[in-house]
Amino acid sequence: MTNEIIKVGTFFCGIGAPEKALERLKKEGYIKDYKVEFFSEVDKDAIKSYCAIHNIDANLNLGDITQIKGIDLPCCDLWIGGFPCQDISCAGKMRGFNFESSTRSSLGWEMIRLLKEVKNKPKYVIFENVAMITSNKFKDTLNLFKNDLIKLGYTLYEDVLSATDYGIPQTRRRYFLIAILNNEKNFSFPKSIGCDLVFKDFLDTCVDEKYYLTNDEYEIIDDNKIIFHKKDRKDVIYEIDLNKYKRGGVCGIDKSCKFNQSSRVFSIERNAPTLTANNTAENVKIIEGVK
Ligand SMILES: C[S@@+](CC[C@H](N)C(=O)[O-])C[C@H]1O[C@@H](n2cnc3c(N)ncnc32)[C@H](O)[C@@H]1O
Repeated sequence: MTNEIIKVGTFFCGIGAPEKALERLKKEGYIKDYKVEFFSEVDKDAIKSYCAIHNIDANLNLGDITQIKGIDLPCCDLWIGGFPCQDISCAGKMRGFNFESSTRSSLGWEMIRLLKEVKNKPKYVIFENVAMITSNKFKDTLNLFKNDLIKLGYTLYEDVLSATDYGIPQTRRRYFLIAILNNEKNFSFPKSIGCDLVFKDFLDTCVDEKYYLTNDEYEIIDDNKIIFHKKDRKDVIYEIDLNKYKRGGVCGIDKSCKFNQSSRVFSIERNAPTLTANNTAENVKIIEGVK
């Protein structure tokens, strides 16, 4: 149990999932309390959500990280940065992260710049990104990133964790890099607790008809396969493999979809898919209630 109030600065805060974890640590008595000293976010909807979810004053937003100067940052114990992953993710074009690439994920380097600029460096920094960042394609840049942190006096702990090992049935593998200044504390990642739940345990039981892409009618095309048509577009076809549906995971395909990832149809019998950032009609589809 930490007796101090942990002062937190969070970059690329989005809706602030790590702050939810801090809230839980407080509730379960692992930390006394925490206080967000500042956050940095550019998306107006994310800012609104973040402030509403965590009851935080919008004036604490320092805005675009590229415009922040280290000298202006209040002293913090912990920085958090789940920097943009679209240019690293296999759902994107995988051109990012390199410092010179000027892509959204190269924004992660802005935190290194700020760590170099601030007078009092935070004791702890948590970086988070997609697992793809550890692939051969990004390995060299990730090593440069880590070397900079080591030169700044941090000891590093890293791992790729899967949500399904921590009680959440979602296909979501994420890279975590924990940087601890002057090796003040030994750190080890929490052990897997597995997952007893499946996707359908999280779904509403009463959902308005307007949210469904199809009605209940389907055609049997062979022993194991059925097809549904989209409600208002008969040319859009979802082909479902019934055996795969029972097993969970990807069980079908949207035949009209241009992109491999978003053409997948998921069963609700096991893990939920990762929802992509461009949450549009081209996103993954979910099928439920097949007998
Ligand atoms: C991968 S998301 C972070 C999600 C976050 N960890 C959460 O729990 O919701 C990256 C966020 O960085 C924000 N972002 C993009 N460019 C930024 C910039 N120049 N300065 C600050 N935030 C930025 C995006 O709007 C997005 O919300």
